[in-house]
Amino acid sequence: MQDRFIKQINQLPASLAAGLVPLLNQHFSGHLDAQQVADLISISGLEKSELMFQLLTIAKQISLAPVSHFHVGAIAEGNSGDIYMGANVELQGRALCHSVHAEQHAISHAWLNGETGIRNIWINASPCGHCRQFINEIDGGAAINIYLPNTVVKTVSEYLPNAFGPADLGVAEPLMHKQQHTLYCDDQSDPLIIEALDHASLSYAPYSKNHSAVVLELIDGQTFSGRYAENAAFNPSMMPMQMAIASLLRHNHGFEEIQRAVLLESSAGALSLIDISSDALQAISAVPLEHIVAEAI
Ligand code: THU
Ligand code: ZN
Repeated sequence: MQDRFIKQINQLPASLAAGLVPLLNQHFSGHLDAQQVADLISISGLEKSELMFQLLTIAKQISLAPVSHFHVGAIAEGNSGDIYMGANVELQGRALCHSVHAEQHAISHAWLNGETGIRNIWINASPCGHCRQFINEIDGGAAINIYLPNTVVKTVSEYLPNAFGPADLGVAEPLMHKQQHTLYCDDQSDPLIIEALDHASLSYAPYSKNHSAVVLELIDGQTFSGRYAENAAFNPSMMPMQMAIASLLRHNHGFEEIQRAVLLESSAGALSLIDISSDALQAISAVPLEHIVAEAI
């Protein structure tokens, strides 16, 4: 089992801990499929929501919060029934706008795994305004159920009445809606560029058209990617660098393992994420940010 979970596992009900230990192996990155969830429900005898609140104590361990020292965990259940953990991430010494909220982390985790919608979200702290706005961008987002400890379950539309969302800007295919944007790059020999192209083509940038992605490569060759996820209110958008950093942490890797970092952006974008991505990268690594502009077709 991974060291980061050892303390928490001992606080869980014994039957649940016994079922979880084999799952929290070295490869665990916060994703449990629907069958594993069903098995944990039957092993522990807990109701689904009770199980999720117990699992939030595990999700919280993924948090990196050198500024606030306030650790938040979130679990998003995708339309498939699989669950995706996330936790807040803050970058030491850099602007607070680089922070990733636990809810954003969990949702981006689900999106990276091919989910096209979210049914339920469990969180151990009330979702802030920025997260309510971020969740509202998801396809069908207004109907997502939000579960908090000792609180009646409510939908996103109850947490965010009179919402301003993608429809207000004429966007009919919101976040997580399956869509693909074709991008082309001359250099097809570099696997990192191919991976960045794939993710950028799946990114969500209806406002700026800056379809973009970041890939971080570790010394052992493993890669972690993030896609740009814009928001109708602009500021709650999630940067591709933040999404990639969150993924790396979720997979229990350290920043010192990064050997390459690539930002790929569409030539059709009304803006560039080069400066904000470099700023975030410099907080965690000395490697230079490679910048590629791909042709939008
Ligand atoms: N935080 C979340 O992760 N979700 C919320 O909605 C509330 C706030 C995090 C962000 C930051 O890392 C820390 O808690 C303090 O705000
Ligand atoms: Zn938040």
